[in-house]
Amino acid sequence: MKRVIFSIVFLSVFCIFSCTDNKLKSITPGKIWPDNNGVHINAHGGGLLFQGGIYYWYGEHKIGGKAGNTAQVGVHCYSSKDLYNWKDEGIALTVFPENSGSDIEKGCVLERPKVIYNALTGKYVMWFHLELKGNAYNAARCGMAIADNPTGPYQFVKSFRPDVGTWPINFPLEKKDEPVGGMKSFFGGSSVPQHPDSMNIVRRDMDSGQQSRDMTVFVDDDGKAYHIYSSESNSTLHISLLTDDYQDYAGKYARFFSGRFMEAPAIFKKDGKYYLIMSGCSGWTPNAGRSAVASSIWGPWKELDNPFQGDDANTSFHSQSTYILPYPGNNDRLIYLGDRWNPEDAIDGRYIWLPIEFDGEQPVIHWKDEWKLN
Ligand code: GAL
Repeated sequence: MKRVIFSIVFLSVFCIFSCTDNKLKSITPGKIWPDNNGVHINAHGGGLLFQGGIYYWYGEHKIGGKAGNTAQVGVHCYSSKDLYNWKDEGIALTVFPENSGSDIEKGCVLERPKVIYNALTGKYVMWFHLELKGNAYNAARCGMAIADNPTGPYQFVKSFRPDVGTWPINFPLEKKDEPVGGMKSFFGGSSVPQHPDSMNIVRRDMDSGQQSRDMTVFVDDDGKAYHIYSSESNSTLHISLLTDDYQDYAGKYARFFSGRFMEAPAIFKKDGKYYLIMSGCSGWTPNAGRSAVASSIWGPWKELDNPFQGDDANTSFHSQSTYILPYPGNNDRLIYLGDRWNPEDAIDGRYIWLPIEFDGEQPVIHWKDEWKLN
């Protein structure tokens, strides 16, 4: 009898624990990803920050329908200890009310937010791509906001264009004095532009600052930080050194992949080398991924192949890169973070997280329906 009672008690306790443990234990790319409230995570075009043993995920908060393709709310933040289960930390950066005149007023385009921590100032610094309300994708600015805590609230500081009045360090000297002119095509905001004379665009934008659209930020081992962004009508990637407080440009930048129309840059460092995973330029429609490697962040950058392999590799498994995250406790193993956009119902965008393997120096990404970090 004692045995029977013991078994019943044991089974009941076991059931209570196993039935109430609804924690996620794997990553299922492309599926709904519920947060601690059971709501699909709303952090698109995002980036992660690992600070004090906690991961913070920042991304574009989207609303339903096409209206969600512009910023109606702000930047959403989530936190996690295991990368599977995410707690809603609320809106880290809130857009200003309509007609407030703010650069980040409701209805602007505020994309690809990334946060880095600055040890000198103790501030969390958020960078993002900003387009002014009602002006399509023409402003081509970045925005910057700071906070004392990782989850915010972030105070909007300014929006601006990089490197006003400064020549890229790898711009040919003899080309500097050529007249601006003869530019036949500019980025119209929706389709792949024809190849512009991109050096002309650098000259044209000398006074306004260089264009900055899809972007990321990266902190190197020596604490120096860089802003990496599509410039020159999206035709060419720029890498700009930031000031020591990470809140401005230090006046040194370089241009790479001229005329290759690289977007959605995501960077990582492995075995002392720098790697970029990027996309081509086709708006919300996915395309084949790109990758590149360099021994110095200032180049030369060598373009590699499409890192995606297998069925659907030519759409990057229907995704676009946004961030590369080292595995917990292992900087040599990396995770690809991409967005599966849904421009018709923006809030329903999905997240494509997949492990990155290597074939020599070529990063390689295979599809997995479900996988675990270990
Ligand atoms: C993509 C870009 C997205 C968004 C979109 C708008 O190319 O990566 O962040 O700007 O275009 O069409």
